[in-house]
Amino acid sequence: MPLIAPSFLAADFLNLERETRMVNESEADWLHLDVMDGLFVPNISFGLPVIEQIRKATQKVCDVHLMIMNPGQYAEAFKAAGADVLTVHMEACTHLHRNIEQIRSLGMQAGVALNPHTPVSTLHDILHDIDLVCLMSVNPGFGGQKFIPHTLHKIRELRQLINERGLNVKIEIDGGVTLDNAASIVEAGADVLVAGNTVFRAQDPKAVIAQLKRI
Ligand code: DX5
Ligand code: ZN
Repeated sequence: MPLIAPSFLAADFLNLERETRMVNESEADWLHLDVMDGLFVPNISFGLPVIEQIRKATQKVCDVHLMIMNPGQYAEAFKAAGADVLTVHMEACTHLHRNIEQIRSLGMQAGVALNPHTPVSTLHDILHDIDLVCLMSVNPGFGGQKFIPHTLHKIRELRQLINERGLNVKIEIDGGVTLDNAASIVEAGADVLVAGNTVFRAQDPKAVIAQLKRI
């Protein structure tokens, strides 16, 4: 069964308490929190004070996806705000290994995200040091985009690499996950499904989360 991580980017920002409660009552495993700086991606979302409040109300694992430049500068602050998993972008880190070591030494799980154009092979010398790879299946910055089909090849390639090396690294897929494509994503080897619009725009978000879980 995949882990399900509803993405709060698609939540009703006027009712975050209600949305957090809905996720608590659902079968979701993680809560995916997208932080954007308007530099690494052409959009700005929410940041530390918002996550700090959500942390107080959620019982789920806080999966923080940093789409920001110089993420290392903020690792301690996101730990203090309540992140359990902290994911940085390969493309935003000149000293990725240092950033990963810092995240882990702060007691968080460390994730590395790859943009759609970044090859899986760039992970060769960091894979054994991380807990999660987030493969972006859309260009980061916005919710509600269409899943890029080539991602399925990347998932299979990464699954093979992880299995060959006997590593315990999770594969997370982020962007355009729907009830129609989730089965093929899981079949290709994904462990964690992020879902924004598919969950929060649904008539019955909890039912959709349950369906994704059993896909
Ligand atoms: C995009 C974000 C995603 C986004 C996914 O940059 O990283 O987490 O919320 O949204 P959907 O599932 O609507 O594509
Ligand atoms: Zn995300």
